[in-house]
Amino acid sequence: MEVVKKIYEMKAISLKARQNGKIIAFVPTMGYFHEGHLSLMREGRRRGDLLIVSLFVNPTQFGPSEDFKKYPRDFQRDHKMAEEAGVDFLFCPEVEEMYPPDHQTIVRVEKLTKGLCGRSRPNHFQGVTTVVNMLFNIVMPQIAIFGEKDFQQLVTVRQMVKDLYMDVEIIGMPTVREQDGLAMSSRNTYLNPKERKAATLLYQSLKKAEQLVIHGEKSVEKIINEMKKILTSDPLVSLDYIQICDTHTLEDVSSIDRGVVIALAAFVGQTRLIDNILIRK
Ligand code: PAF
Repeated sequence: MEVVKKIYEMKAISLKARQNGKIIAFVPTMGYFHEGHLSLMREGRRRGDLLIVSLFVNPTQFGPSEDFKKYPRDFQRDHKMAEEAGVDFLFCPEVEEMYPPDHQTIVRVEKLTKGLCGRSRPNHFQGVTTVVNMLFNIVMPQIAIFGEKDFQQLVTVRQMVKDLYMDVEIIGMPTVREQDGLAMSSRNTYLNPKERKAATLLYQSLKKAEQLVIHGEKSVEKIINEMKKILTSDPLVSLDYIQICDTHTLEDVSSIDRGVVIALAAFVGQTRLIDNILIRK
């Protein structure tokens, strides 16, 4: 595996690969890898001739009071894990090169980013779509792989690719979970043991919702109330939102009679976690 730091080097490598008829599979990440990232890399390895992973903690997707500075970073560990996963190129650009002082272009997807996490993180998704666009232009992949855990991100990136006629196929991969159901996330490392235990309530509430739907419940209000009972059973958890949305438009549904995503965000102690479950009908 080769580590690439400079944008011009990454572009030259990708251009040559494309000219040689290679399929580039790309996994954009912010590092601190876990099994979720590795599942995306394995899928990339399976689909592409060349697997490129970016490791870049993108400052523009963090709000002023969010965790950009303390976001977990461990280059040696990530390097080892990426190498073992069969990554060909690990692209690790510097913030200063990605965002020079005269950088002034933003890519924003409008409607899809208003609700869910967009409500409490108003500039988050424009940070994501801007950097993903930049990374796509540098890495030039035919295929890019994202996790379904960040479902709103996945749908938003798909919309951007469609709206801007970008030639990249976006693949979504299922959420990878710990044994007790907690969705894997680099931010789980912030949790102390009590918080880590309380965090399992997020998935428990989603499983409860799924069971209710399986048994025929159609009322969004009833399902959300049952989920709230579980989530509020531990004072360490404070809810940001629960929404039940159409999987394409991300608009709230009034009753469950089609495919939906049940999505939530909650603080466990000081740590904001998200999770969701897809219900296909
Ligand atoms: O999902 C992430 O880790 C980030 O949002 C991404 C897609 C790498 C953009 O910074």
